[in-house]
Amino acid sequence: MTELLRTRVADELERTRARTAVLTDTVDDTDLVRQHSPLMSPLVWDLAHVGNQEELWLVRDVGGRDPVRQDIDHLYDAFRHPRADRPQLPLLGPAEARAYVGTVREKVLDILDRVRLEGRALVADGFAFGMIVQHEQQHDETMLATHQLRIGPPVLRADPPPAARVPVAGEVLIPGGPFTMGTSTEPWALDNERPAHVVHVPAFFIDAAPVTNGQYQEFIVAGGYDQPHWWSAAGWRHRMDAGLEAPMHWWRDGGGWAYTRFGQPAPVAPDELVVHVCFYEAQAYATWAGKRLPTEAEWEKAARFDPATGLSRRYPWGDGAPAAHHANLGQRHLSPAPVGAYPDGASPLGVQQLIGDVWEWTSTDFHGYPGFVAFPYREYSQAFFGPEYKVLRGGSFGTDAAACRGTFRNWDYPVRRQIFSGFRCARDPHAGEAG
Ligand SMILES: [Fe+2]
Repeated sequence: MTELLRTRVADELERTRARTAVLTDTVDDTDLVRQHSPLMSPLVWDLAHVGNQEELWLVRDVGGRDPVRQDIDHLYDAFRHPRADRPQLPLLGPAEARAYVGTVREKVLDILDRVRLEGRALVADGFAFGMIVQHEQQHDETMLATHQLRIGPPVLRADPPPAARVPVAGEVLIPGGPFTMGTSTEPWALDNERPAHVVHVPAFFIDAAPVTNGQYQEFIVAGGYDQPHWWSAAGWRHRMDAGLEAPMHWWRDGGGWAYTRFGQPAPVAPDELVVHVCFYEAQAYATWAGKRLPTEAEWEKAARFDPATGLSRRYPWGDGAPAAHHANLGQRHLSPAPVGAYPDGASPLGVQQLIGDVWEWTSTDFHGYPGFVAFPYREYSQAFFGPEYKVLRGGSFGTDAAACRGTFRNWDYPVRRQIFSGFRCARDPHAGEAG
């Protein structure tokens, strides 16, 4: 078992580093050190930061080895320097950063061969290694978002996502009653996903699929961006201050809309899931549609609850790891798929595309579950608990399977939309509907 686990960890580390290499080797040094948006770090910061976290946790803590570059710790401490200030720091250059992450990785593979993967909570089931794999994958998704903000000819290549295979429309009724939210058994689940706990969720309807570009355009055409009554007070203030009038990266093209995807312009595809909208836009659309955003518990119940057994699954389709036919994950494609492209990934009740494609905004503030214990450090999640952050669920086309589960939680400010964020709507049943 342990040998199997070591092999799996080594494979995951290698697979993840290959993705990091694609994201950092496809641009030249000028693009690596440039700040493409004040919202993002220079790519070369992400690269060395990934190595620095790996050094802190796996080389120094798990391995008990001497530091590789203690002198640079402060440069790559995300809490010490906001993203906007990072280009001014004396960062490692591209060649130095590559050499550094390579040196750290060599030591980590040596430690992986020797360390006991039991005993200490930090290493049990390879947790610390899994945490570092997920951390690098999360930065890879962030770097992918930086690529989307980069000006210049396309450098990333991928096949288009699969076409729709089934028609998907309308809503699904999720029956009221208890379900198990979160997990106490998933070995690489992060502290904020724990512990498993029973939540009573009254019956509700949820859209069978996330909102598409075509549906979102109807909101625009109906004057959605011009009418404050669809928006929350904070949302309308932000819409006015930021001058929002369509999802990020959209531009008017004659009578219609086009977007630019990783440097490639294209007409907006109506059946594709809408992406790059902020929480406030999602909330305004839902109100306009006579609905609301789902709560986080509703989203997770729709994704995991199996009415036949009363149990919660790891994923909508079951307990098996995500395969290519289940969900649009892992940067396999460079956009969300059309609605109906992943019938094999549907939940038992027929809710589609919950995992992958687009992160889905929920109406819930980021918080700790009952019995939450910060692990292995307070800054992982607890420092972010509170009303400033909204929870997003399900992962996007840019999220790797290693950092995506039915229980996985993401969070961000309600104004953010450089992330791969979309949404679906929910609503309470009308009298007699939930029978
Ligand atoms: Fe980080």
